[in-house]
Amino acid sequence: TAFAGAAFAQPRTVSGTVDLNSPGAVIQPEVYGHFMEQLGSGITGGIWVGPDSDIPNTRGFRNDVVAALRALEVPVVRWPGGCYADIYDWRSGIGPRGERPVTLNRWWGGTEEDNAFGTHEFFDFAELIGAKTYLSINVGTGTPQQAADWIEYVTSDSQSSLARERRANGREQPWRLDYIGVGNEPWGCGGRMRAAYYTDLLRHYAGFIAPFGQESVIIAAGPSGDDYDWTRTLMRDGRTNFDQLSVHNYTLPTGDWSAKGAAIGFPVEEWVSTFDNAYRIETIIAGHSAVMDEYDAEGALGIAVDEWGAWYDPTPGSPDGHLQQQNSVRDALVAAAHFNIFHRHAGRVRMSNIAQMVNVLQALILTDGPDMVLTPTYHAFMLYKPFQNAGVLPLTLDDGDAGDRPMVDATAARGADGRVHLALINLDPAAGAAIGLEMEGAARIVQALILTAGTMDAHNTVADPDRVAPRPFEGARLSNGRLALDLPAHSLVVITLESS
Ligand code: AHR
Repeated sequence: TAFAGAAFAQPRTVSGTVDLNSPGAVIQPEVYGHFMEQLGSGITGGIWVGPDSDIPNTRGFRNDVVAALRALEVPVVRWPGGCYADIYDWRSGIGPRGERPVTLNRWWGGTEEDNAFGTHEFFDFAELIGAKTYLSINVGTGTPQQAADWIEYVTSDSQSSLARERRANGREQPWRLDYIGVGNEPWGCGGRMRAAYYTDLLRHYAGFIAPFGQESVIIAAGPSGDDYDWTRTLMRDGRTNFDQLSVHNYTLPTGDWSAKGAAIGFPVEEWVSTFDNAYRIETIIAGHSAVMDEYDAEGALGIAVDEWGAWYDPTPGSPDGHLQQQNSVRDALVAAAHFNIFHRHAGRVRMSNIAQMVNVLQALILTDGPDMVLTPTYHAFMLYKPFQNAGVLPLTLDDGDAGDRPMVDATAARGADGRVHLALINLDPAAGAAIGLEMEGAARIVQALILTAGTMDAHNTVADPDRVAPRPFEGARLSNGRLALDLPAHSLVVITLESS
């Protein structure tokens, strides 16, 4: 890896500056968005237990999970996939629950889906947690007619048969549909398409999917990783048909899909390679942005990184295709690294959706029957909450000979609350970092919190739910506009300051 051989496990001295007076691009709240797919226990069991369950619920949605998500102020949630979106027939998920068809989930373990969680349940859930809605429509096995019908069913206030059917199924008013994704991964599970073919399909669908009485942001299915030719084709021949370009990129410790690396109990080399691979998203975003700049110099179109996160070998013994994995301190720092990168590219990156919300991949919440655990990733999202709607502040950081990607990384922004928010990560698995930041105008530390634990794979369990949780941070001192911090190994620190 690029990082192999670079020095770590050595105490490090880092210096930098933050310019409090020049806020730049605003971080859209949707940059802290989520993704939930009909996959394993991501929805069934994790979010949805049905109204007759012994697990306390509201209209079938778990009360514990809903409360945790409400506290997070989830800005947007994407559904039903993922790969599942490109085989999903929305008609399977409406009408009386007991009468819905049982379908097979060919992508995720061949599971029999009873379709109890469908369109009404999705919009009800989004309203319950206060999130904007993002529907990914089926371009793989679907048709423009099916997509047009679904959108009419959801958004029309007319007396059309579809609008009347929605009312008969229990929803009088149309729902607000904020985002429409045209397909998911057309180059892969969505149909093995080439860029030119997908671009023509996008143009074809675009004419038929406008919602009624409202406007939605249209997301074009973008490339896999660093396929810049895909972006060039879409920008050249399809750019008037979408608002944001989707980018997917997962972080695998080994970079090898056949042996990705374990979620816990991993060697230190895999800690290092995880972050080498995580930082590739910065190159990928910059690469796609450069192509977009060629056709859209004003930055009218955005990037939606609508699938990202750490992807490990599944938890031993878990069902095939359910993508269950444990979540540790490493995941919290993977999340924080992504947030810092998204902030640096806030001009183009208008949304991101972690994969996934509950029980799947880099989940924020893990459930086990009636029990629920908040993961370190959940706490990273919570700590970064003040960055939603904040203006990014120019920041420089010199962390010495760390190699091709930072060992210590930071981001700062002027919040909607007028305060300055600063987040720092130390990615060294074993050594602390002494940091000095010139922050002229910084007057007072209001709050300082740290997320870390004794080991680099520390995680939360039902028996020990708060092993990795935010705690007060005592290692920050502000004097004459200079902030000095002692960051422990593998830690995230978030500080709120007032300025003069
Ligand atoms: O998030 C899991 C899967 O990863 C999604 O279904 C797919 O879009 C991606 O390949």
